[in-house]
Amino acid sequence: MAIKTTIIPIASGKGGVGKSFLTANLSAGIAELGYSTVVVDLDLGGSNLYTYLGIPNKHPGIGDYLKGKKLKFNDLLVSTGISNLKYIPGDGRTPFMANISYAQRMTLLRKIKQLPARYVLLDLGSGSTFNTLNFFGIAHKGIIVTTSEVPSIMNFLAFLRNFMFYIILNVASHNKEALKMLITAFRQPIKSEPLTVKSLLNKISDVDSNLAIKAHDLCRNYRPRIIINMGDSADELKILRRIDDILKTRLSIEADYFGFIYYDDVVRRSVQNRETLFAHYPQCIASKSIKHVARRITKIWDQPVENSMVRLFEDTKRKQALWKAY
Ligand SMILES: Nc1ncnc2c1ncn2[C@@H]1O[C@H](COP(=O)(O)OP(=O)(O)OP(=O)(O)O)[C@@H](O)[C@H]1O
Ligand SMILES: [Mg+2]
Repeated sequence: MAIKTTIIPIASGKGGVGKSFLTANLSAGIAELGYSTVVVDLDLGGSNLYTYLGIPNKHPGIGDYLKGKKLKFNDLLVSTGISNLKYIPGDGRTPFMANISYAQRMTLLRKIKQLPARYVLLDLGSGSTFNTLNFFGIAHKGIIVTTSEVPSIMNFLAFLRNFMFYIILNVASHNKEALKMLITAFRQPIKSEPLTVKSLLNKISDVDSNLAIKAHDLCRNYRPRIIINMGDSADELKILRRIDDILKTRLSIEADYFGFIYYDDVVRRSVQNRETLFAHYPQCIASKSIKHVARRITKIWDQPVENSMVRLFEDTKRKQALWKAY
């Protein structure tokens, strides 16, 4: 019987918030729990996942695969030295990888869905290029990494806004009139009322109600999981109430607040020395908080997390007392 594969894309609005570091170590954490795991560097044009895995950049990657050098996609799988964890490099040494075509993107999505592993984690580039939006949409539940700082939060909200509008745009592209109306709406001046998912769906409904229902059904399938990185104290999570309000009212999104990872000086040291955090610093607070999230992924990923904001706050407070006591 074929194994069920869970694909988890990992994105962020802002760059430098810790996606690649987290993707590498979450993958190691899941693998350590005994699950076959593949981590893919899909930050095309900016691949550096290998540095967080302590692997040299000498293996063929997606760049080489797309150049058509008779490589099969699964030939790209590299052993990481961590049992149960394999890795697929991104650019390798191929230039201009940020500009792959739509057809190439579709090929990659198809190949990724066929990877032989229980968990497949995707390290995406930051921001809202069509590449990233497309890769993020590969699964209904993806992770968004943010810090609790305002610029990172604003970009995270902008990313989800772009993502939802992209889903709607794709559906509307089947109807010329709806598409024209959407493009006009996207060009509205900054002083107009902010566009919401609801207002866009209403506009589509005026043109074609079935199309609006289809877009609505697609949109509500997505349930992003938010992870706060580089945190210091559970109190930072208080900002989530306002964010959740915006997600619900403007974007019609139900999100799950899924993890809180501590800022830890050891991370920079381990990255500098090209050491994997887990292998060399298993007891540091960043490792402990990542392992906790890895465990949650293997236990509750498939179901919605009810009351996730309060649960994360209380869980983080409890763990803070325990972990920071050392
Ligand atoms: N929890 C943490 N504690 C301390 N440092 C961290 C933590 N998480 C990430 N960092 C550091 O932050 C920097 C940026 O991390 P990373 O490269 O993973 O970000 P990114 O979101 O993937 O960036 P990009 O968008 O450019 O791909 C790195 O130097 C990393 O070591
Ligand atoms: Mg990165």
